[in-house]
Amino acid sequence: MTTAYLAADGFADQLQEELQRAGAAVIRQHERLFVCDGPALTAAWAANIWHDCVELPVASIGSAARALRDIQRNWAMYAPLHHRRAALIEERLPHVSAKPIVFPAATPTAPLGSWTLLAPDRLFAAGRCSSPFANGEVVFVEDKTGPPNRAYLKLWEALVRFGHWPGAGERCLDLGASPGGWTYVLASLGADVIAVDKAPPDRRVAAMAGVEWRGVSAFALEPATVGPVDWLFSDIACYPARLLRLVDKWHASELVRNFICTLKFQGATDHESAAAFGAIPGARVLHLHHNKHELTLFLC
Ligand SMILES: C[S@@+](CC[C@H](N)C(=O)[O-])C[C@H]1O[C@@H](n2cnc3c(N)ncnc32)[C@H](O)[C@@H]1O
Repeated sequence: MTTAYLAADGFADQLQEELQRAGAAVIRQHERLFVCDGPALTAAWAANIWHDCVELPVASIGSAARALRDIQRNWAMYAPLHHRRAALIEERLPHVSAKPIVFPAATPTAPLGSWTLLAPDRLFAAGRCSSPFANGEVVFVEDKTGPPNRAYLKLWEALVRFGHWPGAGERCLDLGASPGGWTYVLASLGADVIAVDKAPPDRRVAAMAGVEWRGVSAFALEPATVGPVDWLFSDIACYPARLLRLVDKWHASELVRNFICTLKFQGATDHESAAAFGAIPGARVLHLHHNKHELTLFLC
């Protein structure tokens, strides 16, 4: 069995380190794609995981397109090499919509395979992939007027990947909230938001209906003083090990239904802390398309 792991642009080193730590047998690297022997391992830094890959000799552009169509309808191309030939094959495949998403939206459910050309006459493909988005890239119709910064895109993506989002009247705690991109998203969904940051918020966001601002350290906040919340969000700029202690505290309080938190790395990636987040029962840790040197924790 062969599994391939595609890193997001600029994050191949992080994925390679993670695969090494997991003991994956990398048999070849095709730019950002790591091809490994064996079944899929957990790989937070993979933008997309290609399951049960097949390698097929293809004599012509037509036979390559036919081979893919014989497997299934929908395909995403990854073409770091042999671009022209790959583009000609893609032209002969059924059209797959790449329209930007309008938030909020459910994730696509149609199976989306991935393929590449290892050589002009060697096709490498997987009908089943971990991401429903081409190469794991989630593209939105942007809101260029409402939010005070671009951080809202990271939360939009997290909520779409999570598959649900706060409803009207749900209680949200937004830790590390300034200037307020995430709070803007949550308040726009009709949620009640307690936004916590030592830095001042954007005035327009602080004035939105349902927003309560607290200018204190998120680490000083005790769960009992806040009470039950439907969602805890954190985008605090801090070391992952410190965030882990904060998540452990709130998780142990049993006052939070859902967590979405950004793990931020400075310098070398702290794979040990990332693995500790992933080991929390029910947790998933992913690198999102809109993440920088960051991972996102999902826990419910
Ligand atoms: C990347 S920014 C958050 C951006 C925010 N999510 C948004 O959408 O606008 C990180 C924030 O963490 C905040 N922060 C750092 N240490 C904190 C602490 N101890 N308590 C609360 N916030 C903190 C910083 O002040 C900063 O505003």
